[in-house]
Amino acid sequence: MPIYFDNAATSHPKPPAVVEAVKQALTEYNANPGRSGHSAALRAARVVLDTREKLAALIGAADAMRVIHCFNCTDALNLAIKGRLRAGDHVIATALEHNAVLRVLGTLAARGRISYTLIDPRPDGFVDPADLRAAATGSTALIVCTHASNVTGAIQPVAAIGQVAREIGVRYLIDGAQALGAIPVNVNALGCDLYAFPGHKALLGPQGTGGLYISPDISLLPVREGGTGTESANPLQPAEPPERFEAGTVNLPGIAGLGAGVQYVSENLARIMMHERELTTALVEGLSRLPGVKVYSPDQEAGRAGIACFNVGDLSSAQVADALARRGIAVRGGLHCAPGAHRFLGTLDRGAVRASVGYANTFEEVERFLAAVRNIAHQ
Ligand code: ALA
Repeated sequence: MPIYFDNAATSHPKPPAVVEAVKQALTEYNANPGRSGHSAALRAARVVLDTREKLAALIGAADAMRVIHCFNCTDALNLAIKGRLRAGDHVIATALEHNAVLRVLGTLAARGRISYTLIDPRPDGFVDPADLRAAATGSTALIVCTHASNVTGAIQPVAAIGQVAREIGVRYLIDGAQALGAIPVNVNALGCDLYAFPGHKALLGPQGTGGLYISPDISLLPVREGGTGTESANPLQPAEPPERFEAGTVNLPGIAGLGAGVQYVSENLARIMMHERELTTALVEGLSRLPGVKVYSPDQEAGRAGIACFNVGDLSSAQVADALARRGIAVRGGLHCAPGAHRFLGTLDRGAVRASVGYANTFEEVERFLAAVRNIAHQ
């Protein structure tokens, strides 16, 4: 029986209700939502709205119309960053960001449109909000911070950073790729203007889904123009969300599945969070006891999302990931599309091995995994 410890890349298995919801969308009402008035199209539109409302309820957003359906978290981050920034703006982000942020900033900077500063975490793996405050200039227009590192799992002090952003009058974007669905998220308590998230990770939806929360007092330009099924004679995008940002046909089967995933998560979040935390603790503590194994995830149990990041002896992360795969255990090695995090850890040369848990994993799987790592370390 394979062990799936790659939930930070995409969650598996999906709850049966997610699979059923995708199947129903494809077989019972496979129509284009918001485009036509026949019964299947109306049902499709209701499902798209229903998922939007479930997402809004999960994150504490008062207006579901400000939760935009995107195609993944990268898509949401592109919309947030490119839709917000103007020529000459300065951005503060952390070195822990994923390439979904770093490459967007890097590309805009290479085109001479913006400048940006990356803030290293402190030695414990968490960024200090004071360091972000100190990096602000008169041109700083946006702070971007990952909610939880996709490499170490370290949950960043995002609410305290939101406080800094408000105090210095700078807009604030959180990348929730490893957080939403795994830990409680309330966009008001976090003080963020924008919150980007994938649908296919801890929200347990299908790939090709994700979203962006846009607070009521921030304006954003669309980055994609096209049909919305509304105001069709208008040569410009409609002014109001969500249509303003959802040009083109949405991913109906994906959004239907996402709705079922969000429902499952909403009903079970406390239990899922506790289970994943205990599994992660068993992984981190078990790995830390193994001779020759170096663990990079934080010590504090409450400070990490469901990720245990490590290396074994002098082996490359690819060697260890391959050796685990041969033993029927799925993990991710390499740089995890987050080079700044690996530069900080000193693992740019060989990457690190990431074991990431989900709601369906068991303690017995943790034991089998630890035995396999022990075996690899002894070879
Ligand atoms: N961003 C995903 C990961 O961290 C794919 O693996």
